[in-house]
Amino acid sequence: MYARITGTGSYLPEKVLHNRDLEKIVDTSDKWIRERTGIIKRHIAAEGQTTRDLAVEAARRALQSAGRQPQDVDLIIVATTTPDKVFPSTACLVQQSLDIHGCPAFDVQAVCTGFVYALGVADKFIRSGSHRCALVIGAETISRILDWSDRSTCVLFGDGAGAVVLEPSEAPGILSTHLHADGKYEELLHVPGGVSRGYPAEEAGGAFVQMKGNEVFRIAVNTLGKIVDETLEENQLQKSDIDWLVPHQANIRIIAATAKKLNLDMNQVVVTVDEHGNTSAASIPLALDVAVREGRIKPGQTLIMEAFGGGFTWGSALLRL
Ligand code: ACO
Repeated sequence: MYARITGTGSYLPEKVLHNRDLEKIVDTSDKWIRERTGIIKRHIAAEGQTTRDLAVEAARRALQSAGRQPQDVDLIIVATTTPDKVFPSTACLVQQSLDIHGCPAFDVQAVCTGFVYALGVADKFIRSGSHRCALVIGAETISRILDWSDRSTCVLFGDGAGAVVLEPSEAPGILSTHLHADGKYEELLHVPGGVSRGYPAEEAGGAFVQMKGNEVFRIAVNTLGKIVDETLEENQLQKSDIDWLVPHQANIRIIAATAKKLNLDMNQVVVTVDEHGNTSAASIPLALDVAVREGRIKPGQTLIMEAFGGGFTWGSALLRL
């Protein structure tokens, strides 16, 4: 028994922020952002629009593409770093909005690797036979935890949500998931403040993303190269068996390095970082939905998802659509 993706959906907030708009806020340039990251624009949630709102829209679209009703869902997992409330979980809020009652609903927090973690967890629920219709969502309003005066972070991120429906199948769907973390890198990429620790006044910007970008970059490229090897080896596949790379969308240079490692041409890589920026846990399901709806990724093709983020966390999923 496999778990297979039977539907995809995504949602982006209406407001678009172009690099040119950022030039008016911080000392940056369209040229620098394009050349160093590949980002041209990103979407930003409207005032009052929350992670739950984005997640619900993406979920409705995924259910529609799977031909399922909300009442068919028996498991909801939301990957997010930017929940609406401390509690209940965003998954419970999504459950409420979709008028679903009784099934387990919980959040997974692995920052940019969140969706891969959530997919890995849902895969195990489905394969065990305990659940038959999982809604797996990555949703973020990362704009809320950005310091809009810090040019080294605020130009990189955007808001959005992506979702998949996962159901049992005798034909291969998810072939393997690989989840990793190493907390020793805490300080390289983090939001220093939090509920329990508080937001110490002496830590300027303690409520916002802080990142040592070039160190994160170096470790991300190296680590993603290794996880690609691990994924192929475990499945006894060759690089040439992969049809598509659906990577976390942090930086076009990181994506290109992973594609090179897989000997993939860039037209076999789903790239949305130019249009979405880094939407953290939402980036992979958003990219997947774009490529599926455009008819680029076709049923039966083999794809690899990979992500790297705060923690550090990193992971991959190999699957057949
Ligand atoms: N505009 C103009 N100049 C800038 C900007 C900006 N927005 N930001 C930084 N600079 C400057 C720096 O001040 C520095 O100037 P200096 O040389 O005079 O000191 C110069 O540009 C180079 O800075 P670097 O940080 O070395 O630039 P780099 O080439 O590493 O690119 C970037 C920065 C884009 C952040 C890159 O390091 C990166 O993508 N890192 C990885 C991000 C990532 O993958 N994060 C993980 C996922 S996110 C998550 O989990 C929440």
